[in-house]
Amino acid sequence: MNTLQELIQKGKSLLKEFPHPHLETKLLLLKCFDLSEEEFFASKDKSVSRSQERCFNRLISRRLAGVPLPYLTGIKEFWSIPLRVSPGVLIPRPETELLVEKTIELSKGGEEIIVDLGTGCGNIAVSLAQELPKARIFATDTSRKALRLARLNANLQAVSGVTIVRGSLFSPLERLHLRKECDFIVSNPPYVSQAEWEKLSRETRDHEPRGSLVAGETGLEVIEQVIQGALPYLKPGGYLIIEMGYNQRDAVQSIFDACSSWEKVKFFNDLAGVDRAAAARSLVFS
Ligand SMILES: C[S@@+](CC[C@H](N)C(=O)[O-])C[C@H]1O[C@@H](n2cnc3c(N)ncnc32)[C@H](O)[C@@H]1O
Repeated sequence: MNTLQELIQKGKSLLKEFPHPHLETKLLLLKCFDLSEEEFFASKDKSVSRSQERCFNRLISRRLAGVPLPYLTGIKEFWSIPLRVSPGVLIPRPETELLVEKTIELSKGGEEIIVDLGTGCGNIAVSLAQELPKARIFATDTSRKALRLARLNANLQAVSGVTIVRGSLFSPLERLHLRKECDFIVSNPPYVSQAEWEKLSRETRDHEPRGSLVAGETGLEVIEQVIQGALPYLKPGGYLIIEMGYNQRDAVQSIFDACSSWEKVKFFNDLAGVDRAAAARSLVFS
């Protein structure tokens, strides 16, 4: 029988082509062993059971076949919150934390209405609910799988004030009578073009949902619909905060410019220094 330490060595060696073999091995072992990190470090010399070893071998094989690590562990940290993730729903990316950060900066912390359009696993909605406990948050998506996961994450994090609704773009807001009621509409919509999709990693293309990333031929199709459709639902002076592709700044600026009811658009860089989010305020007097 192998010890835990021997499995760590085996995992590190098998995963040596991945950027963080030690960390990935540890996370896969934690998944199979149901131990806390402290218990894990204290148990390195203990023998592992056959079923634990089988579980580890199975996860390592799937990882070597390219399955993203968070789909194997079932967890992805976002805004320091361990969120549940599962195949069929996009894995949250660190750059999306920018949307959360900017919304918090612009919020007055009161009983504001915030919409998270295309919520996925609920990462933006749950983070905002933790940070802005007085807000009423509406999280929407077209995907039933995504909404189930968002509901699970909201429950596991015990956040209140999050309502999860299914529907495309603004149709749920119409049903909820949110015309001119929203202080913020926040969205990380699909914004990848079909040509860009072909250049994404195999790991993403083979395992993550294409419809969460690809907007259409140009990549701007959904962003355009969100910018054009948001105004009727924002209060005068309400904000649209939207994530976009690294090369979409000029196009996004033009889409906002085509409508005279937006104040000046601000762009924000992600940690890699590229324009990643845009925020625009609807005119108070239009
Ligand atoms: C890029 S993912 C973002 C997921 C999550 N908010 C995040 O930041 O990781 C886009 C999400 O929008 C959803 N979506 C795509 N088209 C939509 C539409 N027309 N209306 C509402 N949601 C849509 C997808 O199902 C997906 O969950």
